[in-house]
Amino acid sequence: MSELAPTFGEWTGAIQQRTESALDRFLPSIAIAPARLHDAMRYAVLGGGKRVRPLLCHAAGALSGADPAALDAAACAVELIHAYSLVHDDMPCMDDDVLRRGKPTVHVQYDDATALLVGDSLQSLAFLLLAEHCPVEPAARVRLVSELAVASGSRGMAGGQAIDLASVGVALGVAELEFMHIHKTGALIRCAVRLGAGCGSLDVAAAARLDHYAATVGLLFQVVDDVLDCEASTAALGKTAGKDAAANKPTYVSTLGLGRARERARELHGEAVASLEHFGAGARRLRELADFVLTRQN
Ligand code: IPE
Ligand code: IPE
Ligand code: MG
Ligand code: MG
Ligand code: MG
Repeated sequence: MSELAPTFGEWTGAIQQRTESALDRFLPSIAIAPARLHDAMRYAVLGGGKRVRPLLCHAAGALSGADPAALDAAACAVELIHAYSLVHDDMPCMDDDVLRRGKPTVHVQYDDATALLVGDSLQSLAFLLLAEHCPVEPAARVRLVSELAVASGSRGMAGGQAIDLASVGVALGVAELEFMHIHKTGALIRCAVRLGAGCGSLDVAAAARLDHYAATVGLLFQVVDDVLDCEASTAALGKTAGKDAAANKPTYVSTLGLGRARERARELHGEAVASLEHFGAGARRLRELADFVLTRQN
C-alpha cells in the first residue's frame, strides 16, 4: 500500500459522502406525490447513520474488482433495508423508541401509519435499485436480489426481529441468543459484504473466507450494540441508552455479563480478522472495518 493511500478516516468519509449523494438521488423527491410519505422516507434515510453496511459493501467490492456504480446501487439497497428496519424497530409495537440518529423517530415526527409505510416503501425501493440501477450481468443481478430478499425476510432480519420480540423476559441461552443476533442484525451485515463481492468476482475459496468474515462481523456488530446500550450515553448513541434492560430484552450483557460480553466481542473480532489472512493488503479496509465495529462508540 502506498504511503499516499487514504487513511481509514479519509476513506470512510469519501464512501459515506458518495453513499449520501447516491441515496439522495435514488430517493423520490418531495416534489412528487405523495409528498408527506416521500418527505418521511428522506427523513428516515438521509443525514445520519454510520453507513457501516455501505462501507462493508464497497470494501468487499474493491476486493472482487466490482464496478463502483454497481456498488453504489448494492450499498444503497442494503442501507435502505437497514433504514426501514430501524423505522419499524422503533415503533410502539416493537421497541417503542423516541430517538434515532439524534432525531425524533419517524413515528414521533410523523405518525405510526406513515412510519409503517416508510418501511414498506424503503423495502420496495431497495429491490428496485438492484433490479434497475445495478450494472452487472442479468444472472448476477438475480443472485443479488435473492440474497437481499433472504437476508431481509423471515429467514433473516425480520425473522430475527420476531425472535427478539418473542424473547422479552425470557432468559435465553448463549446459543439461542446467538441465533437471534445472527438473524436480526448479522444477516444484513453479512449480505452487505456478499452483495459487494457479488458485484464483481472471486474464486469459491476466497468467497467462502470472505463470507466467514462477514458472518462474524455481523454477530460482532450486535454484541457491541448490546454492550453500548448498557455502557454508552444517550447523547453519544443518538438513541435512548439502557433500553434493553428497561424492556427486559435478553442480550449478550444480560446473558453473559458485561465482562464476558466484551471478551466475546474481542474473540469475534479476532476470528473475523483471521479469515482475511489470505487476502493480504487488498483486505485492508475490511480489517479496519472489523476494528471499527469492535471499538466504535455509537
Ligand atoms: C443499529 O444499527 C441497529 C442494529 C442493527 C444494531 P447501526 O448502529 O448501524 O445504526 P446507524 O445506521 O449507524 O444509525
Ligand atoms: C435492532 O436491534 C435490529 C434491527 C433493527 C433489525 P436493536 O433493537 O438492538 O437496535 P437499536 O439498539 O434499537 O438500534
Ligand atoms: Mg429491537
Ligand atoms: Mg431497538
Ligand atoms: Mg440495541
